[in-house]
Amino acid sequence: MLDTTDASRIERELSRSYDIVAEVYDEKCDNPQMRYMRSLERQLLDAHITAGPVLDVGCGTGVQTLYLAEKGYRVVAVDISPEMVRTARDKLHEADSSCPASFVVASASDLPFAACTYSAVVSVFGPYSHVPRLQRAFDGLSRVVRADATIVMTVVNAHRARWWLGKSLRRQWRALRQALSSRESYIPFPLNGRTVNLWIHYFTGRELKQAMQRARFTVVRAGSAFILVSPAYNHSRQQALSPTGRFLARCEDKLRWIWPFKCLGDYLLLVARRCVDDERACCARDTGF
Ligand SMILES: C[S@@+](CC[C@H](N)C(=O)[O-])C[C@H]1O[C@@H](n2cnc3c(N)ncnc32)[C@H](O)[C@@H]1O
Repeated sequence: MLDTTDASRIERELSRSYDIVAEVYDEKCDNPQMRYMRSLERQLLDAHITAGPVLDVGCGTGVQTLYLAEKGYRVVAVDISPEMVRTARDKLHEADSSCPASFVVASASDLPFAACTYSAVVSVFGPYSHVPRLQRAFDGLSRVVRADATIVMTVVNAHRARWWLGKSLRRQWRALRQALSSRESYIPFPLNGRTVNLWIHYFTGRELKQAMQRARFTVVRAGSAFILVSPAYNHSRQQALSPTGRFLARCEDKLRWIWPFKCLGDYLLLVARRCVDDERACCARDTGF
């Protein structure tokens, strides 16, 4: 367990690191694998976000903020990195300055909003995997949403099967030992000519579900992404997935909500609802991992 000083240091580091990443983030995500994941995210938002105002936690360069604002939802987007927020705001103004979105630089563990403000929350592509004070962050989230609010979230999975299999086949024992001994680590994000290290917490489905329950959320849908398709973090001129990639994506689409596959992708997907009643009643309805 991290103490407050360590947690604050990690948050300051992440803010600085993502400030550097902001400049290349959209370019690095411009590839067929990421487009595949973005289309999955949009399906989730279309199916589960039905009312605003919406809070986008860890908005990054505003991919989901823009998508939801263009659909007419009032969106407030939060990120710990000022440069990510600046990029997202510029993109929104370029697209349509009349879109109902606003931006705040803040940490997910100190959300500066009044109680019961939001009807929905989106936090995708791992922002909560970067939050060292997780329970405090989930409790804070629980405070700022209305009863029955919907949360769509994705976090990085500790039990990502492709990674474990790949490391085992390549006999990378050190990486395996390290991953077995701690679910916290620094991942390298390569930039042009340098590398930025990002602190990350890998979640198990069970841990995520329990932390959500303690904050009075009930999991209504649990799945995973990048089970068979491997993610890419580099610009590619290729527009669509390769024929093999398309085949794997079709298989993955059929498997992602089914046990055990829903526990095995690189990212855990979770749709949750803020309970109206107490934690025990909340857990009883849970259909999670
Ligand atoms: C991998 S990016 C995802 C961005 C965006 N949601 C997307 O789908 O592209 C993770 C984002 O979380 C933000 N972040 C990291 N720690 C955070 C914290 N404690 N509070 C708020 N945002 C945080 C980072 O600055 C970064 O923009």
